[in-house]
Amino acid sequence: MKHLIDQLARERDLPDEALLSLIRCETPEAEEYLAQTAAAVRQKHYGKDVYIRGLIEFTNYCKNDCLYCGIRRSNQKAQRYRLSEEDILECCRHGYELGFRTFVLQGGEDPYFTRERMVRIVSSIKQKFPDCALTLSVGEKSREEYEAYFAAGADRYLLRHETACPCHYAKLHPAELTLAERMRCISDLKKIGFQTGIGFMVGSPFQTPQNILQDLRYIQSLRPEMVGIGPFIPHKDTPFCDEPAGTARQTLRLLAIIRLMLPTVLLPATTALGTVSGDGRVRGMQFGANVVMPNLSPLSVRKKYMLYDNKIATGEEAAESVHLLRKTMSAIGYQVVTARGDWKHE
Ligand code: 5AD
Repeated sequence: MKHLIDQLARERDLPDEALLSLIRCETPEAEEYLAQTAAAVRQKHYGKDVYIRGLIEFTNYCKNDCLYCGIRRSNQKAQRYRLSEEDILECCRHGYELGFRTFVLQGGEDPYFTRERMVRIVSSIKQKFPDCALTLSVGEKSREEYEAYFAAGADRYLLRHETACPCHYAKLHPAELTLAERMRCISDLKKIGFQTGIGFMVGSPFQTPQNILQDLRYIQSLRPEMVGIGPFIPHKDTPFCDEPAGTARQTLRLLAIIRLMLPTVLLPATTALGTVSGDGRVRGMQFGANVVMPNLSPLSVRKKYMLYDNKIATGEEAAESVHLLRKTMSAIGYQVVTARGDWKHE
């Protein structure tokens, strides 16, 4: 495996068969070497810096019915909430004091947050915190709507593609959601000039190694500035309640592979990774990740934004505990920095 990992590091690419064998490879020696190699590439571009993003989960209303997601429309048990514009700004103020210089507004696809409302929220955050980057993660919109967000000052946008295989996409989503439309959105975001993040769940139901290969090929062709991956975790009130979770190991291997393919990508060790494995976020750094996204939502709503079971919500992943995160990271030789943490050109 070592020679394949070296080749991937050198050429940032591998033929399909070789990549598949790396995706499947479960030997500890290969994993160790993958980690080392990915950490070295990360070191070259970002040093030991860890960028933090304050995640504000501002609404869990959603008009979509994705089969895997705990806030899907038909989950009657979800306790729905929306933050007011004032609440959101208060989260930012709090986050700013804690050292955050990027805020991520994430929510379900909630029609209450019209273009006008979103534009107002984006404008006021950018006006009050001009030295901060603002990331939106609010799903599929028209090109015009994305343009309005960008004009209002939003810098980045996260929209995971979820899977690059149309058949697999259809097994995870209701018929009204299509991969073609998802990809239209992603391509519009990129054209408009957002730093764009895509990604997928690792070990989602029906996922095959071939599917993962397709995901990696799509990532290579789009060249996104950010890639978010985390293990699938079942949620008890969804059709996938009895499906097995994805593993931390597979997620870590893929983080490293993605780092080698896209050396300067912004790569978070996600909350889902921290949920399936206690040291997931630290291990993520050691496999090439360079971003963490602590939760900055008000404590009163944090338990309600449950995309999957047992989502960690009050430990080191909480923004108010960022001092603990700083400690943990410095214990393994990394340093949490107070910076926007934009994507870097090579
Ligand atoms: N397990 C893991 N990740 C999930 N997401 C949604 N539901 C789950 C789940 N059950 C991810 C999706 C989505 C992101 C916001 O959260 O990939 O894009």
